[in-house]
Amino acid sequence: MTPGASNSQLSDLARGACLPNYGARDVAMVRGAGSRVWDADGREYLDFLAGIGVNNVGHCHPAVTAAIAAQAGALIHCSNLYLIEPQVRLADRLCRQSGMSRAFFGNSGTEVTEAAMKLARRRARDVRGPGHDTIIAFASSFHGRTYGSMSATWNPKVREGFGPLVPGIRFATVNDLESVDAVWGDDVCGVLVETVQGEGGIHPATADFLRGLRTRCDAADALLVFDEIQCGMGRCGYGFAYQGAGVAPDVVLAAKALGGGLPLGALLVGEKAVDVLQPGSHGSTFGGNPVACAAGLAVCDVVFDPSFLTEVGEKGCHFWGRLGAIQRDMPDLVDTIRGLGLMIGMVLTRPGADVVALARRRGLLINCTADRVLRFLPPLTTTREELDEGADRLRAALEEFRAKG
Ligand SMILES: Cc1ncc(COP(=O)(O)O)c(C=O)c1O
Repeated sequence: MTPGASNSQLSDLARGACLPNYGARDVAMVRGAGSRVWDADGREYLDFLAGIGVNNVGHCHPAVTAAIAAQAGALIHCSNLYLIEPQVRLADRLCRQSGMSRAFFGNSGTEVTEAAMKLARRRARDVRGPGHDTIIAFASSFHGRTYGSMSATWNPKVREGFGPLVPGIRFATVNDLESVDAVWGDDVCGVLVETVQGEGGIHPATADFLRGLRTRCDAADALLVFDEIQCGMGRCGYGFAYQGAGVAPDVVLAAKALGGGLPLGALLVGEKAVDVLQPGSHGSTFGGNPVACAAGLAVCDVVFDPSFLTEVGEKGCHFWGRLGAIQRDMPDLVDTIRGLGLMIGMVLTRPGADVVALARRRGLLINCTADRVLRFLPPLTTTREELDEGADRLRAALEEFRAKG
């Protein structure tokens, strides 16, 4: 097949060449700029999913593209046996932003979740002795698809048929401290919680709830881990979403938007746990590679700018207002709207998977999660005019969906 193949040519090729785990895919995205992408047939879309929370600075942001090109021309890979300048600078940048003390880099959210689970167990064994290996996770959580992260993930669809899972994980309910107390025991070494649940349907944890987790972890000398893989990096109008709640964790997980589109995850560790992962105990060949970290530094310069973050909050309110107008006009179809900053879910009164296809036909990319929740994660650089345009396209898609019954 020659370069420049069409959607249908690529779809045919994929059917015979790729595993079916992503379902049938009939559109190939070949170009992106800002909040827009174009497919192989030349159709333009407003991308309000942003690679599921990856393209926070938009597609091909000039600073990110330039940083990647410059680093690729200097050094693409170097083993972690040696210092890697962009990695060290990014570690310092992320620690200063998050209030954590040290960083480790992996290549994905899953990998750093896995690292956090290992860290919590290892620290408890070192500090409190054996037998303290239980991790508390939450209903509707999503943390990844490797054995540890999958075992801490709630959704049965993710776990089904892959057992036996990693033991020692108990589930409680977000924003319900009684449910946490019900599963708490002396064996708890850590609590793993998304500050705003993404895949589970956009559920923000309240400040009171996070404070309650903080108190319990302090009392037990367990680690409080905030998974900010989807809700961090400016997405919610704060550098990290927990900064809006004013509760400090012991560990922060960042990934997705961190690498500006390149694979990168960060485990950010507070003072309590900086000595746990001693030489040889953990590592990665590619984690923290020079090009991804150079991109990450460019992303940080954009998304951690205080005036940019204020704008994210304001644009979130603006878009929320547009969604609210749709809700008022279609109360039979739209139940609630929830979220924080530019991480917003519109909860429908019935399953919404078909809306995704109707929106795409109108040039709007979104997805539907937790069966009934339309999820909006537009690039944080999206203008108010583009947000309006997206809301108009969504309204038309919902009207057609409603008319079909
Ligand atoms: C909150 C959260 N944690 C972890 C992950 C896993 O990240 P990755 O797909 O980069 O491995 C995701 C991915 O959607 C996520 O949303």
